[in-house]
Amino acid sequence: MALVDSFGRTIRYLRVSVTDRCNLNCDYCRSAGQVLLPNNHRLLSLEEIARLVRIFTELGVERIRLTGGEPLLRKNILSLIKEIGSLPHLTELSLSTNALLLARYAHAMKQAGVSRVNISLDTLDPARFATLTRGGDLAGVLSGISAAVEAGLHPVKVNMVVMKGINDQEIPEMVSFARQHGLVLRFIETMPIGEAGREMEDRFVPAEEILTQIQARFASDLIPVHQPRGSGPARYYRIAGTEAEVGIISARSRHFCDTCNRMRLTSTGKLVLCLGREDRMDLRTAIKGGADDDQLKDQIRAAVDLKPERHQFDQEESHGKTHAMSALGG
Ligand code: 5AD
Repeated sequence: MALVDSFGRTIRYLRVSVTDRCNLNCDYCRSAGQVLLPNNHRLLSLEEIARLVRIFTELGVERIRLTGGEPLLRKNILSLIKEIGSLPHLTELSLSTNALLLARYAHAMKQAGVSRVNISLDTLDPARFATLTRGGDLAGVLSGISAAVEAGLHPVKVNMVVMKGINDQEIPEMVSFARQHGLVLRFIETMPIGEAGREMEDRFVPAEEILTQIQARFASDLIPVHQPRGSGPARYYRIAGTEAEVGIISARSRHFCDTCNRMRLTSTGKLVLCLGREDRMDLRTAIKGGADDDQLKDQIRAAVDLKPERHQFDQEESHGKTHAMSALGG
């Protein structure tokens, strides 16, 4: 039994935010004025999250990603990882993190069933990192990346949101960094999601421009990868003679909604049907109200039927009205 939406797309991938809290405060994710209201009393419990994830896998979801906020800040996250990691129909459990806590968790995470991690890193300059993250310590992230590599959370992917005049001059340096450490580096176009994302509008660098910059420096070393890694939206190039790859995610300049295979669950139990639209289905009320598995499955199927055809990043009036990125984890 599979989850197929009204445009024929099969949903095999669920991104699960386990907390809105974060130990960094990135410019493009939270706007300076955004107050984070404590929502602890509204959170799904770990048991509820594990139950929903199991139900999704029974409906055909094969890949789960834990996100936040910073997912490693959620209390007892390892027990949730273990629980999800042992689900029979799962082919992959991954996690998106800023890496600050990876030196502590990488090994245990691997043992508990996480296959790999995506790490957010937008600059290799300590001062710029502190500015972009409003006080973060780059050294902590770099040791987290090493810990992930050592723990075999392979391939370690690094995400860089490219922002004109902020970090775009570092594109070649980031490629060298990826090459040196055998990482998969993905350049991401800024998306006008939430207040903070909208404030980044004038920092937008289109994918083609990013690619031109990489080619200028690494031209003969870049080999297009025709069979894309994973089932995600990036276009990839391998760096000759290394394990490293670079990819570009062009959500804006060249959308990939036709092959969208995913939905997102927030830490308070809202099922978000599209990153770039308002549509969502509340699963919290049902699960807190004692719904049985079949009732939850009906509700999930009803949500899938409502999944919109594509995002609306190109429509000014929808910008910033969408969900806060800090509650969705990318
Ligand atoms: N635009 C593009 N990507 C974003 N992310 C968060 N906010 C934005 C935004 N406004 C992505 C980053 C980060 C991941 C968690 O979410 O790639 O690594």
